[in-house]
Amino acid sequence: MFLLLLIAVFTLSFFYIKWTYTYWQRKGFPFVQPKIPFAVLDPVLKREASFGTAILDVYRSTKEKVLGIYLITRPVLLVRDAQLARDILTKHFESFHDRGVHVDDEDDPQLSGGLFFLKGQDWKSLRVKMTPLFTSGKLKAMFDTVEDVGDRMINYLNAQIPDVGAKEMEMRHVMSTFAIDIIASAFLGLEVNSFVEPNNDILNISRKVNEPTFGSVVRGTCQMLFPSLEKLFLRLGWREEAPEMMRKIVKRTIEMREEQNISRKDMLQLLMQLRNKGQVNDNDNDWSAKAVDKNTMKHMTIETIASNLILFYVAGYETTASTISFTAYELAQYPEALEKAQRDVREAIERHDNKFSYEAVQDMKYLDLCIMETTRKYPGLPILNRECTQDFQLPDSDLVIKSGTPIIISLLGLHRDEKYFPDPMRWDPERISQRNYEPAAFMPFGEGPRHCIAQRMGRVNAKVALAKLLLNFNIELNPVRKEIEIANFGVPIMAKGGINVRLSKRT
Ligand code: HEM
Repeated sequence: MFLLLLIAVFTLSFFYIKWTYTYWQRKGFPFVQPKIPFAVLDPVLKREASFGTAILDVYRSTKEKVLGIYLITRPVLLVRDAQLARDILTKHFESFHDRGVHVDDEDDPQLSGGLFFLKGQDWKSLRVKMTPLFTSGKLKAMFDTVEDVGDRMINYLNAQIPDVGAKEMEMRHVMSTFAIDIIASAFLGLEVNSFVEPNNDILNISRKVNEPTFGSVVRGTCQMLFPSLEKLFLRLGWREEAPEMMRKIVKRTIEMREEQNISRKDMLQLLMQLRNKGQVNDNDNDWSAKAVDKNTMKHMTIETIASNLILFYVAGYETTASTISFTAYELAQYPEALEKAQRDVREAIERHDNKFSYEAVQDMKYLDLCIMETTRKYPGLPILNRECTQDFQLPDSDLVIKSGTPIIISLLGLHRDEKYFPDPMRWDPERISQRNYEPAAFMPFGEGPRHCIAQRMGRVNAKVALAKLLLNFNIELNPVRKEIEIANFGVPIMAKGGINVRLSKRT
């Protein structure tokens, strides 16, 4: 009896797997023969490749415009053609407006209220409300806070680097600390200096978020690939610690500000305006979040504010830190670019009354090209993802993408494809100004209505850190040009062995 049962289970599993893994074949799409049981994720789970590089390898394995792949057992469509990818994100947005990441309002309000995860109309309404948080007026008003964090970074480096001679510094560590303190001060209004005080609230949250524990890997995979399992975990009460810690900080700070009528120039204050008034103040000098009528219903819950702040942290921390550190690394490889960047920073400040101001930073045009070229070669997110929300027929083809199908666009693949970017491994800021590339393929901040809401802020913060670095230190040239080796773990692109750059003090 037992043997019969075993044979039945085995046979059913065999046919289920065979059926699942013939999905793309049955739909007539070009496909990659899956490697059972993890398919494209095989090298990721064996720790031989990061998620982004595993997808890059598949991107490079074919010339097809679209390719059916499997993430474990889930059929996913990899879009390889730049124009089609861009059209999916823009022209055909109505058929691809969600990300297909699991959200559960009832059981996980702390995370599900985040803009990145929301779907359909919920996403649209929140996006409209949040767009005014990131205008240049608001960024300008918060600039002093960002600059203070930049100065703290310089103080730290000054203490590390000898007065004479150079010292090798691991830039990702330095810039991650910079990025964390931006979140702490410009987002949450916390008075912290993580460069000298390594045990503050926000660093503790950061450790929790970044800990690559078994639990976080399982939950991350389920959110993307197996929503019903994720739902079950939530129903069983399996909660992540970091959102709860963030909720406590947010609640404490909101209550304190409301009781003591404190208003500060930070993101939390803007979110409090949304909560109490239903919209962000038009006037960039008015930061008050006081409701007109005290008894009016709140327009936004503390949970939604906390989930968006944690999302801002997740979306902004690694992307900003890696963009700055990869730029510093590439500047150390290209003497002409380094000299131009130094001159650009110095001259922009001179043009603005010798002040390191928001306007001066905006005027650092060459530095901006450097940052954009870095986001080309090392996109902060190696992939973009969407879910097909209504059946979609591919242009000039009979193939139909069925509603519910996850879509992946490999930014790393497109940005390093010589068909779109000649000599792609060469880091050349001028290719951006000379438009020496295929514009459809360049999407470092995503595209369409769901592109990065904080693109302007990410660029300003990166420029502040780099400009301060260039003003205070010499970046020593690498004697031999060397490509960074990408680490075999994580979703964002990380450098194996860190990003090491030799710095010396400027006399
Ligand atoms: C250099 C820095 C940054 C890079 C390269 C970057 C890149 C990206 C990319 C590629 C996306 C996906 C866009 C798409 O799917 O079309 C995205 C989305 C997003 N980013 Fe950024 N980002 C950066 C900085 C930030 C910062 C500082 C924040 C914090 C506020 C942030 C918040 C977000 C949010 C909330 C979304 C989701 C938008 C939505 O779904 O409506 N990003 N970012």
